[in-house]
Amino acid sequence: MNTLETERLHLRAFRETDLDDYARICANPEVVRHVGAPFSRPEVWLHIAMMLGHWQLRGYGMWAVEDRASGALIGRIGFYEPEGWPGLELGWMLARDQWGRGLATEGARAALAFVFATLHKPHVISLIRPENVASIRVAEKLGERLQGHSRALGVEALVYGIRREEWGTA
Ligand SMILES: CC(C)(COP(=O)(O)OP(=O)(O)OC[C@H]1O[C@@H](n2cnc3c(N)ncnc32)[C@H](O)[C@@H]1OP(=O)(O)O)[C@@H](O)C(=O)NCCC(=O)NCCS
Repeated sequence: MNTLETERLHLRAFRETDLDDYARICANPEVVRHVGAPFSRPEVWLHIAMMLGHWQLRGYGMWAVEDRASGALIGRIGFYEPEGWPGLELGWMLARDQWGRGLATEGARAALAFVFATLHKPHVISLIRPENVASIRVAEKLGERLQGHSRALGVEALVYGIRREEWGTA
């Protein structure tokens, strides 16, 4: 699987040794408020296994996000498109103490470049709950525009999206 470097981030494959750090990130209710119920430690293990399996099956998926300066795991950014999903979704989730530094946008920009320039995918979406204003702002900064609505998450979600032709012009 590909790794990506940005100015401040290293995006790499998850590994089993990430379990403690990733479980700690997911244990914060503020972090998981818009992405589902808080994960128990066994659920977090299964989630890591799913993310690695997704790469195996699709050739793209979620990266573990490391702070390059410290080497610490600080979240996940990348793609999610299980069977039946409304599109190729780009998502982001960072530890609470990392918010507000532009890191989600920085990592997601590199992920978009990978999927458009390397994989030549035509279209990327982000499913975002209407009240998740920080996430909407990240989508907008990436050049994504509101394209519709979905109930893929079991609740109402906005569908933001960007086509490859629009990418780089934002
Ligand atoms: C969404 C998330 C990844 C954003 O990470 P981040 O690194 O802080 O994002 P960025 O700094 O790149 O950009 C956030 C933008 O939202 C803005 N923002 C943050 N909170 C806001 C709020 N309450 N109201 C309005 N704007 C807000 C920031 O000002 C920034 O915009 P700006 O650059 O124009 O000032 C982070 O909040 C998170 O992990 N949330 C929990 C998981 C989650 O909900 N993921 C998305 C599921 S769709």
